[in-house]
Amino acid sequence: MISLEKICVIGAGTMGSSIAQWFCQQGIKVELTDANESLLKKTHQSILLSWDKLLAKNKFQPNQIDFFKSCLSIKSFKEFSKDADLVIEAIVEDLDIKKTVFKQAASHFPSAILASNTSSLSISAIAQDLEPQDQARFLGLHFFNPATIMKLVEIVPQAKTAVELPLDLKEWFSSQGKRPALCKDSPGFIVNRVARSFYGEPLHAVGQDSQDVYLEIDHVLKEVGAFKMGPFELMDLIGIDINYTVTQSVWNAYNQNPRFRPHPLQEKKVKMRELGRKTKKGFFCYE
Ligand code: NAI
Repeated sequence: MISLEKICVIGAGTMGSSIAQWFCQQGIKVELTDANESLLKKTHQSILLSWDKLLAKNKFQPNQIDFFKSCLSIKSFKEFSKDADLVIEAIVEDLDIKKTVFKQAASHFPSAILASNTSSLSISAIAQDLEPQDQARFLGLHFFNPATIMKLVEIVPQAKTAVELPLDLKEWFSSQGKRPALCKDSPGFIVNRVARSFYGEPLHAVGQDSQDVYLEIDHVLKEVGAFKMGPFELMDLIGIDINYTVTQSVWNAYNQNPRFRPHPLQEKKVKMRELGRKTKKGFFCYE
């Protein structure tokens, strides 16, 4: 089985932080970076705080928490260890920015597996400008929010990915208690394609911008549909801006098929900076 001893995570936002935390909890050394230095420091503190809370709830022993903390460090990109085994990118959902980051990563890390956590962009398109030997070690690793809890990891090879790499990673993630799924490189992979309807149809069922309406729809889907979370609380957790970008990306990738068209309410919330839990207001209030 492949051995992952050190990983580097680029992007310390919602996903990068929980991916970093999960890997530390597997006993793997993690180096984390972000373009925004103050956010990086805040994320570091919030991961440490999260471990303190887990300790207080007796989810882990004190020596385990000390060990997890010793696994995590924050660095600038240039300071990243060149001998990392795996690099995971979890930055803004923008094709050109991701392509640039992977160009840099391919030259900084001579042999690491290179992975993007993109929700909706084409893995082949991100890999397009890499050298063939770097394309062979590049693929999508799509974690779910929060990565510390959600077991699913979508593993998405592109045409030039070395054949054994997705299978090796599938075996490794299974051994760590995740539920990996191999996916083809198509817009939205499995979950984000199917989930467009989970968000889109309830948005069409909304008559007015009202928390009572959102609550009612969430209630119906949870109580009757047996979903763990309703669509509105889930969009607030994901980030309405992130969800909107993914919807646009899948819609564009399917030639603007009306089935996947973003709802105007998503755009309105993004313009008002009501992005969900991270801004304390989205479909619901969190003050
Ligand atoms: P976020 O907005 O919370 O965090 C992104 C971070 O990337 C920010 O802290 C930003 O400062 C940083 N960043 C931007 N450009 C950078 C660069 N060039 N170098 C280093 N850092 C840079 O976004 P989030 O939600 O963590 O999403 C990140 C990626 O994960 C996206 O591709 C998204 O589609 C994907 N994703 C998001 C999920 C979610 O529930 N939010 C779930 C699964 C995947």
